Amino acid sequence: MTRSIHILNGPNLNLLGKRQPEIYGHDTLDDVEALCRAEAEGSDVSVLLRQSNYEGQIVDWIHEAREEASGIIINPGALTHYSIAVLDALNTFDGPVIELHISQVHKRESFRHHSYVSLRADAVMAGFGVRGYALATRHMIGLITAD
Ligand code: DQA
Repeated sequence: MTRSIHILNGPNLNLLGKRQPEIYGHDTLDDVEALCRAEAEGSDVSVLLRQSNYEGQIVDWIHEAREEASGIIINPGALTHYSIAVLDALNTFDGPVIELHISQVHKRESFRHHSYVSLRADAVMAGFGVRGYALATRHMIGLITAD
């Protein structure tokens, strides 16, 4: 059975590669998708990467993942720090959830130190750059194909 990982990205991540490259690097979200697909190659796992600047769209995609995904990797962007709606949506999802941040949020402004999403996440990654997406994909494949 082919299983699916949904990789959800929140506000401003469409500008990855252009936005504050000194913090987020020069790779784009397309590069991230290629990294994740390469990681999943040869496994029976498919990868779907999405990005939206809208909180409600992220919530809808989490609901969709309830039916279609075995695991969620989420970089909620700034929603991390204030969205109870995203947390509530993730709490309706039964599979593993990995929260990912490209930057090391704990080294940055104090408002980035708190995450609502961490109340649900099974693992949290921060500061691995875009390489974190590949590492998270590898870990998620292990989790969802273990049984
Ligand atoms: C981010 C960190 C957040 O604080 C910020 O709002 C983002 C990106 C990261 O990937 O490092 O948009 O989630």
